Amino acid sequence: MTTQVQIPPSLPSNGLAGHLLQLTYEPFPLFRRAAEVGDVVTLRALNRKIYFISHPDRIKHVLVTNQKNYQKGRALQATQQVVGQGLLTSEGDFHRMHRHLMQPAFHRRQIAGYADTMVRFTEAHLHRWHSGQQLDLHREMMELTMNIAAETLFGADITARSKELNHALNHLMEDFSFFDATPLGRVLRKLPTVRNLRRKHWLKTLDTAIYDFIKKGQIEERNNLLSMLLAADEGASLTLEQIRDEVMTLFIAGHETTANAIVWTFYLLAQHPEVEAKLWDELEQVLSGRLPTAEDTGRLKYTRMVLSEAMRLYPPAWAVGRNAIEDDEVGGYSIPAGSTVVISQWVMHRHPTYWPDPLTFKPERFDPETAPRRPRYTYFPFGGGGRACIGEAFAWMEGILLIAVLAQRFKFELTSTEPVLPQPGITLRPKNGLPVIIRERQAAYRTSKPDIASVPTERKCFEFGQV
Ligand code: HEM
Repeated sequence: MTTQVQIPPSLPSNGLAGHLLQLTYEPFPLFRRAAEVGDVVTLRALNRKIYFISHPDRIKHVLVTNQKNYQKGRALQATQQVVGQGLLTSEGDFHRMHRHLMQPAFHRRQIAGYADTMVRFTEAHLHRWHSGQQLDLHREMMELTMNIAAETLFGADITARSKELNHALNHLMEDFSFFDATPLGRVLRKLPTVRNLRRKHWLKTLDTAIYDFIKKGQIEERNNLLSMLLAADEGASLTLEQIRDEVMTLFIAGHETTANAIVWTFYLLAQHPEVEAKLWDELEQVLSGRLPTAEDTGRLKYTRMVLSEAMRLYPPAWAVGRNAIEDDEVGGYSIPAGSTVVISQWVMHRHPTYWPDPLTFKPERFDPETAPRRPRYTYFPFGGGGRACIGEAFAWMEGILLIAVLAQRFKFELTSTEPVLPQPGITLRPKNGLPVIIRERQAAYRTSKPDIASVPTERKCFEFGQV
């Protein structure tokens, strides 16, 4: 007996544009509604069908089991104007070859060697701060992680120019729109408008820095990602432009997401003093006031649980898109060749079927000894399959070390009780940054624990449409 392949249910939409505006400006409520309708649901952007998938087995099918049938989605292709044909956007043999070439820079032993730089740079950054100061933690973390990425991956000290580079990157990120991925958007981007000229200017600033890294890398003997790319160049295969694209990709992908993960972690800690107190206990027990090392990251178990839970609620990569090459069948539904498939970490990480009380910040969900077994693709901040994040181990190392160094010294108080809105752009940034007041914490914390008895432990996290 053969089972019949069905057409997925669709979410009603109005007018010619379909769901285009919601996809561009308010994707989360739209995705959540789709997930309520079924595991595979059809959306529409103009005349293009988009299949939204919200079941862990179906997600595994797209990312892993039948990954050969799926290429990167069109929205990501729009980023090629900045990153070119780098690891994030390239396909097929070209991608496989470049991934193989860069993989050694991300082996655990190599990453352990970056720990010292991560801690040293963080310490130096903290020297600029003082208790009582108000600052935008998002901007600070972007600058710090950018400096770390440049030093560890390319051997480039950019501390003197990181403000300028951050500024340029910020403009490019904020300027990005999923509309640019549409055929009309692509045409409009070529016109000499003020917006397009500005974008060209910011891109040139970044490009100049990237070519400086490469020039310096050609002179100096180092053992880092850039030297691996340059060595391959000597044996043919990588052109200067290809090296530029890979360096630009790693420069951006290697800091922006981790900075966001750390910022959301401190946002949640500021609202949950009971979690913060436990974190502080662990830092005291494991480190007793000294700086953390690569070996400590394995011992800082609660710190890792806190970061895991922060990435559940605020996944820095909040969705992945794919294009189907040939007709496929996913969970009994037909996916025609050429259509777009979208999967969202934001939706799966908050899916009430898999996460009881999904809006509560509870790091214990990730306790390796007590956590229930969950289907693999209910939690996938780093994606999965052959296109999973190459920098995952780097990100864990950096996230845990930076949280440890920062939380040991400072406490971050929010300047407002209003929820900080997540902005779903290329990554999930806090809209308008994260303004905080920093407080030196060691003395006060060593002698007295915070008074957490009066603090509600079930405080819910922000969810679109549920405030
Ligand atoms: C918390 C931090 C990070 C998160 C949440 C994250 C998330 C992701 C996700 C979800 C993907 C897969 C995208 C897809 O399937 O379309 C990805 C790919 C990628 N990430 Fe990360 N990432 C993080 C940190 C890093 C770091 C530190 C680096 C480099 C140092 C990096 C470099 C890359 C690259 C190059 C790819 C493309 C891999 C390929 O297609 O072969 N990421 N990342």
